[in-house]
Amino acid sequence: MVQPNTILVTGAAGFIGSNWLNLMVPRHPNIQFVNFDALTYAGNLASVSDIASLPNYDFVRGDIRDRNAVQAAWEKYLPDTVVHFAAESHVDRSISGPIDFIETNVIGTMNLLEAFRAKVGGATSVRFHHISTDEVYGALGDEGLFTEETRYDPSSPYSASKACSDHLVRAYHRTYGLPVTITNCSNNYGPRQFPEKLMPLMILNAIEGKPLPVYGTGMNVRDWLYVDDHCEAIWQVMTEAKDGETYNIGGNAERTNLDVVHAILRVVAEETGKSYDELVGQITYVKDRPGHDFRYAIDASRVRSDLGWEPKETFESGLKKTIRWYLDNQDWIGKVRSGEYRNWIEKNYSQR
Ligand code: NAD
Ligand code: TYD
Repeated sequence: MVQPNTILVTGAAGFIGSNWLNLMVPRHPNIQFVNFDALTYAGNLASVSDIASLPNYDFVRGDIRDRNAVQAAWEKYLPDTVVHFAAESHVDRSISGPIDFIETNVIGTMNLLEAFRAKVGGATSVRFHHISTDEVYGALGDEGLFTEETRYDPSSPYSASKACSDHLVRAYHRTYGLPVTITNCSNNYGPRQFPEKLMPLMILNAIEGKPLPVYGTGMNVRDWLYVDDHCEAIWQVMTEAKDGETYNIGGNAERTNLDVVHAILRVVAEETGKSYDELVGQITYVKDRPGHDFRYAIDASRVRSDLGWEPKETFESGLKKTIRWYLDNQDWIGKVRSGEYRNWIEKNYSQR
């Protein structure tokens, strides 16, 4: 059992990391959590405001591409554990601008691994947990599931950069003996997700009477997992798994994109009193994403049998909680929708 004292958590002003901290910081008062985040367009301090004043939480604005900044945080906090969420994470952005993805996801990951390897200031190295995605495995057809043995075959600059970072983490384990673990998870949804991804974009556009842009035919399939279930899996793998292990994490909730949009519209109609038929009328089919992976689906039997992890939310219960959160948190929505957000929406959707 790994027992961390000080955890450097990268990228935890973003979607999954902030949900993870909101669960773990109050639950583990004897562990020091340091959130190291560059606050890019996807990071927002409003997502961690509930824990900001807790004594076992600290925030450092820093960029993992900057080796000196990583080194300085190490010298100050001497972390024994790293939970590495920081990444450029949006496939469409990786298509229009891949370089940031290589710099942050590949070079940034290596900078962290180097600092961990160096045990700066005599710090012990208990564990480096790397958060990754099922997208490294490429696309499935109608049948089959990704297992931990599936060959890597990434399609987008995003998934290629994550594949590269996974390989680096494994290489540091095999070459230098670093104590690492990796999780490859399916699509997450829940509170605090930046409204560029399918779920929050559709929820907000539905509420606001805007078009609901479905790529291609809407028949691409994703496996959806409520973010808190992913966060619990990360904690279990990080503290209980053997060094060098990889676990696939998934919700066993495959849906076509069109099914997801219809499910969102049913809940939005229930929660707001809007007409479901009128909401369906907002759906617009737009030009497909280049290299769009057809289907992702996870076999999560290894994490179930080794560690007893199971998701607690169903797709329906998680979706209801998520939509309620967006309806109740207009303040957060206002804060994350900067001018940069409006530029992205204009750039991504105006030409489709
Ligand atoms: P996100 O885009 O919401 O947040 C990313 C965070 O990283 C932001 O706070 C941002 O400010 C920070 N960041 C970006 N570049 C940085 C840099 N150079 N230095 C320091 N901080 C930087 O992402 P997310 O959805 O929370 O994803 C977190 C991790 O989980 C990523 O590694 C992603 O690949 C992985 N993942 C995401 C999903 C998903 O469905 N969202 C699924 C599986 C795996
Ligand atoms: P996304 O949330 O970007 O996650 P990922 O590409 O990492 O799976 O997209 C989920 C699915 O939804 C994917 O098949 C693309 C599709 N999609 C749309 O149809 N319309 C949209 O506006 C967006 C953002 C995504």
